[in-house]
Amino acid sequence: MCGIVAYIGPKEAYPVILKGLKRLEYRGYDSSGVALLNSGLKVYKKKGKVAELEESLVGKDLHAHAGIGHTRWATHGEPSDRNAHPHISENGKLAMIHNGIIENYTQLKGELVKKGYTFQSDTDTEVLLKFIEDIQLNNECGLEEAVRIALKRVTGAYVIVVIDQDHPDTLIAARKGSPLVIGIGKGEHFLASDASPIIEYTKEVVYINDYELAIIRPDELILKNLGNEKITPYITKLDMELAAIEKGGYDHFMLKEIFEQPHTIFDCLRGRLDANAGTITMAGVQNHIEQLKNASRIIIVACGTSWHAGLVAEYVIEELCRIPVEVEYASEFRYRNPVIHKGDVIIAVSQSGETADTLVAIEKAKEQGATIFGVVNVVGSSISRISHAGAYTHAGPEIGVASTKAFTAQLAVLTMMALKIAQEKGSIDNKRFMYLLNELQAIPEKVPATLQTNEQIRKLADKYKDAKDFLYLGRGYNFPVALEGALKLKEISYIHAEGYPAAEMKHGPIALVDETLPVVFVATKDSYHEKIVSNIQEIKARKGKVIAVITEGDEVISNMADDVIVVPAADELVAPMLSVIPMQLLAYYIGVAKGLDVDKPRNLAKSVTVE
Ligand code: AGP
Repeated sequence: MCGIVAYIGPKEAYPVILKGLKRLEYRGYDSSGVALLNSGLKVYKKKGKVAELEESLVGKDLHAHAGIGHTRWATHGEPSDRNAHPHISENGKLAMIHNGIIENYTQLKGELVKKGYTFQSDTDTEVLLKFIEDIQLNNECGLEEAVRIALKRVTGAYVIVVIDQDHPDTLIAARKGSPLVIGIGKGEHFLASDASPIIEYTKEVVYINDYELAIIRPDELILKNLGNEKITPYITKLDMELAAIEKGGYDHFMLKEIFEQPHTIFDCLRGRLDANAGTITMAGVQNHIEQLKNASRIIIVACGTSWHAGLVAEYVIEELCRIPVEVEYASEFRYRNPVIHKGDVIIAVSQSGETADTLVAIEKAKEQGATIFGVVNVVGSSISRISHAGAYTHAGPEIGVASTKAFTAQLAVLTMMALKIAQEKGSIDNKRFMYLLNELQAIPEKVPATLQTNEQIRKLADKYKDAKDFLYLGRGYNFPVALEGALKLKEISYIHAEGYPAAEMKHGPIALVDETLPVVFVATKDSYHEKIVSNIQEIKARKGKVIAVITEGDEVISNMADDVIVVPAADELVAPMLSVIPMQLLAYYIGVAKGLDVDKPRNLAKSVTVE
């Protein structure tokens, strides 16, 4: 899940590419590099962040009107200068960047080594490039043809962009599995893994589909399939503003995105939920309502934080719609050979809409006749395009690698879906429907009060930042929130943390508890409250340090816990959209207190586009 950028046109290519790489750095930051076409091919690459590459190029002649750039998340070959992209062909005339994994690269490498090719890196990418070069030589064909032939022989996922010093006015790009968007300017074109590097230059874009190959010149964009048939580019207009991808005065994108949640949840509900009229309007749901309300089961497929949103939705959908729900890790679901019946409904939850595990899982389910309903944040992303129907979460671009505002927006969409299906199915009465509609509509107004715990949580973070382990506990709707809290802390602070159903403690994990272990309870008022009070007593009895997220006015737990974080009252079904926010802030401030890069945590990337 690397970031790729390319440019061809009248502008200076290097500054456009460098800025684009910085915008895409959340996709991978192990190394970066550029290749520029200026009376020959100039390739520069460096281990580390884009800023280190920029530093190393000060004073160099970087003039060019065409070039490619890459920021890497290492898959094959450790982070290093020699494994950084772009890679160069044996004859030094071609350079290529790649996002994805070539699964049969060892076999191809073996064939090339027999032919005398040598390799400067450990990457699958260099193998693909030299395979293309070899076809060009042996078939005496042009680069476009060689790329087409080569791609018919590779297995795996890729977006590649290749430049040729002998044809400085042309870029060749191709896609399968990894994302590629092309921005159309006046006499210029921009290529990138997503729209964020393109938005400041043009709003006219083309999303490239699997098995499509693009031939790009300053004033021409030709799309073809691997069968060499022309395809008419489908131009869409971006509805995103540059400000949305700037930090807006915050120290980090993560903190900005946490504080955006009053607006992002409101934007997610706007035009869909009207508590006064007692209506929920979601075209995707309405168009498939018969199938949704008569579904014998609903399968939710996702990864990471999106999987936690799916888990909350399991509780909500079963409670309101009385339809059994299974929540599946996409990577396991994909290879477990699950039993899928024709007409089964699969809800795919994904912020990026590009997560390979989720994408391939729903592609497989779709082949077996399942209906795919996508709950996605990135407009035009692959999952949104292969789903039969869906609902966008409208949280705006999420740049921080740790997902925050997308999670609460996912909960808002999934809860609206459940309410709509329940209303249509008659599985809840109108009194409860109206009550929950008002509870959900009230959430955006309650988030600011929750964010006011910011300063208190910064101090708490300082108190607990040196802990070696954390436990996060919750029951019912708050159990997935506990899992999410643990994931946020792991991602951002590198402290080991586990989330558990609170009652599960006594079946083993309670052995971990002593005075050095902070235990975070997500304990807002709900139908499990009495039970969670006893769980807190069990931890206190073993001298565990209890941090409890509680509902305002809860004297019982505030008299028991070492530290409490108070959030506004809300029905247990929608409370996770509030109780998760202290989890996000605690992880953020512990990461900051430890001096870590909270927007780009080590070893992670925002969108996992390889299996
Ligand atoms: C969450 O903070 C992580 N970035 C990660 O677990 C993420 O949720 C997961 O990779 C799924 O991504 P998606 O929602 O874009 O599919």
